Amino acid sequence: MTTEDINATRIYYDQLGEREWTRLTSAIAGRVSFEVHRRFLARFVGRGDRVLEIGAGPGRFTIELAALGARVVVSDLSPVQLELNRFHVARTPAESAVEDRVLLDVCDVSRYADGEFDAVVAYGGPLSYAFDAAEDALNGLLRITRPGGMVVASVMSTLGTWRSSLPGVLGVAHRFGEEVNDKVLATGDMRHLVGLDHVCRMFRTRQVEELIDTVGGESVALSASNWASMSDPSALEPLEDDPERWRHFLDNEVAACAEPGATDGGTHILFAAAPGRDASDG
Ligand SMILES: C[S@@+](CC[C@H](N)C(=O)[O-])C[C@H]1O[C@@H](n2cnc3c(N)ncnc32)[C@H](O)[C@@H]1O
Repeated sequence: MTTEDINATRIYYDQLGEREWTRLTSAIAGRVSFEVHRRFLARFVGRGDRVLEIGAGPGRFTIELAALGARVVVSDLSPVQLELNRFHVARTPAESAVEDRVLLDVCDVSRYADGEFDAVVAYGGPLSYAFDAAEDALNGLLRITRPGGMVVASVMSTLGTWRSSLPGVLGVAHRFGEEVNDKVLATGDMRHLVGLDHVCRMFRTRQVEELIDTVGGESVALSASNWASMSDPSALEPLEDDPERWRHFLDNEVAACAEPGATDGGTHILFAAAPGRDASDG
């Protein structure tokens, strides 16, 4: 990853500003994605945990972490997103759970001591912006997680993005050429699409597993976000108005997202990784 890559990501999120706050609320697939991420988080973070939240953005999951009873060090690469986090979270009881707010690149957590957090959360793709430094970045996150603790993250999915954004991907193939598009599909690295204002590195599930394995971590859980709700949203609208049917749908959706046949199928791949035995021995 180059300084230009980091700057381009920072500028993108600075300019995106407030629109990031509505990403998980304005459309039905976003609301399902929020629920999938929220329930996954609740499996690994509990009352009294001290959590580093990386790429926290405007604070949807800061508020969730506080609701789980965690104390949170909030961080982001983008100063605008960090300010938005202060703005949104300060209006809620969650603010009392915030220990600190810091500008932080997922690739450099050297300021934190080994094992000082019970959990490190990096939702919404911070590791997808580490590009070829993803191994070093995950290694750093596992280092600062205590033995028995968990890194909980989501990255962008290559196959799911292809599926959910088919017209866009076909447009990219037309604009940049099939050969370039094939490189993106094979590697997940959107930097082949020179000139786009938003690029990241997408993953296949097996690449996520390889990444965790390479840095000596233990893959504990995987999930897509989302599965059935990636289809026609109009089919779901009547369900959302009926709390009982909606809860039932969400239960099935969350279970489906964790099926091995589904984890590549959403826009994001969620994972929980524990520090490996070497880390706990040390
Ligand atoms: C899609 S938003 C996700 C926000 C929030 N975590 C959520 O899931 O709703 C991605 C966030 O990651 C931040 N980010 C991007 N690259 C990063 C990096 N290298 N280090 C830390 N944060 C980064 C962005 O500024 C942005 O706030």
